[in-house]
Amino acid sequence: MKKILTGIQPSGALHWGNYFGAMRSMFALQEKGEDIFMFIANFHAMTTQRDGAALRAATRDVALDYLACGLDPNRSRIYRQSDVPEVQELAWYLSCLTPMGLLERCHSYKDKMAHGFDATHGLFAYPVLMAADILIMNADLVPVGKDQKQHLEVTRDLAQKFNNAYGEIFTLPDAYIPDTVAVIPGLDGQKMSKSYHNTIEIFEEPSSLKKKVMGIKTDSTPMEEPKEPEGNSIYELYKLFASPEEVADMAAKFRAGGYGYGHAKKELLAACHRLFDPFRAKRDELAKDEDALEDILRDGARKAREAAAPVMEKVRAAVGL
Ligand code: ADP
Ligand code: TRP
Repeated sequence: MKKILTGIQPSGALHWGNYFGAMRSMFALQEKGEDIFMFIANFHAMTTQRDGAALRAATRDVALDYLACGLDPNRSRIYRQSDVPEVQELAWYLSCLTPMGLLERCHSYKDKMAHGFDATHGLFAYPVLMAADILIMNADLVPVGKDQKQHLEVTRDLAQKFNNAYGEIFTLPDAYIPDTVAVIPGLDGQKMSKSYHNTIEIFEEPSSLKKKVMGIKTDSTPMEEPKEPEGNSIYELYKLFASPEEVADMAAKFRAGGYGYGHAKKELLAACHRLFDPFRAKRDELAKDEDALEDILRDGARKAREAAAPVMEKVRAAVGL
C-alpha cells in the first residue's frame, strides 16, 4: 500500500476550488482504503501570518472543514504540523545539505516577493520544511496542486542528497496531480483562488452563497437565444455538483434557447445546497465540541509521530547524533 501525505496551509476558509480540486480526490483515495496522512501546515502559515489568535482559529477551521467534508479520523490521520515537532529537527538536517541556489530558483519565493511579502529566512527556507514534512513520513505520494510541483522536486532532490551522504534512508516521493481535475473557475471566470478574491466558500453563509452564485459573471446573450454551454462558468460549475443526467438536461436547455443564465444559476444553487448542506450540519455538530476536535488532532499527531519515530532514529544515527 502506498503512503499518501498532504498538507494544507491554514490561510483562510476553504472554497469550491479546494474541495473539487484537492479534497474530493483525497476522500476518494480514503474510500479505496489508502493510507492517508493529512496535516495542517501551521508552521508554514507563519511565513505570512503574524496574528497568533488568527492562526490558531484558522488551524481549527481547516480541521473542521476537512472533517465535515469527509475526512474520517478512524481511517486517515489528521494532525497539526506543530504537534509533530520532529519536522523542525529534520528540516535542520536537510538545511545543512540544501544549496542556496536550489531555494533561490523556487518560484513561490519569487512570487511572494513580487507580492510584497517581507523577505524572511522562513519564507526562503519554506521548501526545506515542506521536504521534512514529507520525508519524515516516508511518503510515496503527495497530492498537491500544480503550483507545488517544484517543491516536490526540491523534496526529491534533498532526499537524494541525504541518501547519497548518509545511506538509503528516505523514499523519493512522487507528486500526485491528477490531470482529471479541472481548474475550477471563480466568480469572475478566472481560476478560483483566495488571492484573486473570487472564491465561493464551502461553508459560505446561505444568503452570501445566493448572492455570489447569482452574481457569477456571464456573457450578455439574451435569454431567448440558444447558448453553447461548454466553457460557460455556470455550466462548468454545475458539472461538479450534478449527476450526468442533470448535466445533460442543462446542456439541452441551454442549446434549445429560452433558458437564461439566471435559471441555470438557480439550479446550480440548489445543487450546491444538496451537496454541502449535510456537510454544514456535520460541521456545526463538530464545532460544538472543542475537546472532541482536540482529541482527534492529538490522536492524529500521536500516530504521525509513531510513524516518524523509526525514520528519525535512523536519521539521527546516520548524521552522527
Ligand atoms: P488558493 O489558490 O485559494 O490559495 P491553495 O493554493 O491554498 O488555494 O489550494 C490548495 C489546493 O486546492 C491546491 O493545491 C489545489 O490542488 C486546489 N485548488 C485550489 N484552487 C483550485 C481551483 N480553482 N481549481 C482546482 N484546484 C484548486
Ligand atoms: N506548501 C503547501 C501549499 O501551500 C502546503 C504544504 C506544506 C504541503 N507542507 C506540505 C503540501 C507537505 C504537501 C506536503 O499548498
